[in-house]
Amino acid sequence: MIPSDSDLLAWYDHNRRTLPWRALPGETADPYHVWISEIMLQQTTVAAVIPYYHNFLKRFPDIAALARAPLDEVLQAWSGLGYYSRARNLHRCAEEVVRLGGFPRDVTGLQALPGIGAYTAAAIAAIAFGIPVVPVDGNVERISARIFAVQEPMPGARKLLAAKAVTLNGGPEAHKRPSDFAQALFDLGATLCVPRSPACVLCPWQKSCKARKLGIQAELPKKSPK
Ligand code: ADE
Repeated sequence: MIPSDSDLLAWYDHNRRTLPWRALPGETADPYHVWISEIMLQQTTVAAVIPYYHNFLKRFPDIAALARAPLDEVLQAWSGLGYYSRARNLHRCAEEVVRLGGFPRDVTGLQALPGIGAYTAAAIAAIAFGIPVVPVDGNVERISARIFAVQEPMPGARKLLAAKAVTLNGGPEAHKRPSDFAQALFDLGATLCVPRSPACVLCPWQKSCKARKLGIQAELPKKSPK
């Protein structure tokens, strides 16, 4: 059975996490906010990101403020988050977006910017611009491995998991709500379809999950044997 996009969205409507970068239902997220949060969330947990996110936006309320700030100040606001190349790229990207007159509104244009890879481009496109693409991070790879019972070990399975994850938004509701669909996947991966002891009985996709049918959900995605 193909997982239903409307089942996931109905679950999200009742269970969505309130996060500072998330637009309220029915509102559109600001691409600057989505971009900053996605870069911060790349190697850092949601709980650790929240105070940095608030501080960062207080110091650099919009992309023009970030672009004209000295790099030292940006690095200082980033201090504690680690992976400082992210902050350097953030500053270069802000300069480039200001030069362009705004964020490109498509995945290819976004991906050409400093520090923006396939995942971040898809996240901004879906969440800020409502383009029906699926950003594939570790959470979404895990969901994909389980829904489709992909037994190939990581990291070799990555391409296959991404290709399968892209088919998850095949239904009509997902195309009407690409932003919610992407964030519903993040929330499903963070709250129910977690690495150990997934809470399958609460999952909106329990009936279409092949791994659950086989009883192997906790074993997926498989790691390469060392
Ligand atoms: N992880 C990565 N991006 C996220 C987002 N927008 N919301 C929650 N968790 C995330």
